[in-house]
Amino acid sequence: MLSIVVLISGTGSNLKAIQAAIDAGRCRARIAAVVSDRSKAKGLDLARERGIPTEVVRLKDHPDRDAWNRGLAEAVARHEPGLVVLAGFMRIVNRDFVERFPNRIINVHPSLLPAFPGADGPAQAVAARVQLSGCTVHLVDAGVDTGPILAQAAVRVHASDSAESLHARIQRIEHHLLFQVIDKVSRGALVLASEPTWQIGSQADEDVFIAPGWLT
Ligand code: GRF
Repeated sequence: MLSIVVLISGTGSNLKAIQAAIDAGRCRARIAAVVSDRSKAKGLDLARERGIPTEVVRLKDHPDRDAWNRGLAEAVARHEPGLVVLAGFMRIVNRDFVERFPNRIINVHPSLLPAFPGADGPAQAVAARVQLSGCTVHLVDAGVDTGPILAQAAVRVHASDSAESLHARIQRIEHHLLFQVIDKVSRGALVLASEPTWQIGSQADEDVFIAPGWLT
């Protein structure tokens, strides 16, 4: 069973979706801990309700960012994860953190990378007047949203969309895509490396991540 540590900063709707998929037998993993940089992150409540260990590692409790990264890495490593999942974790981790868990950190980002990295992916998509956007699950490297892409799903962008309405639609597909990637890693159907590979034998329909019927 793949043991995962989930890092969050806020609402934790992706965390909730992962736990729901695990409960439904659709994601073969176990959440070993939830780690946050914010003590008031709502997602921590969900973890506590489920009896999942939580850790809070705040930047302001550390002398500098390097010390915070070390503290964060220690907190995560304590739970011996097979996979570290950044699910709405709003801070950039440094190279030392990434190298502590080589090819073992994934992130979900609300755009079709490499378009619109960084903050406000949905707002950038609306401003650029693109017709399609979506979400990307990628391996984390030392850059900002630059790691190898593992999976993507698309949604239509409406002319009437605000950043908020588009983000809400994107989140609906994030909630499917992220647990599918975790499950694939767990089953060995997705091998994480600098060139991630899908193993032969994974079912073709599972590899089609374009949201069916356009979620609107
Ligand atoms: C998600 O849209 C994710 O793509 C981005 O932050 C948001 C977190 O949402 N990185 P939640 O906390 O999981 O509800």
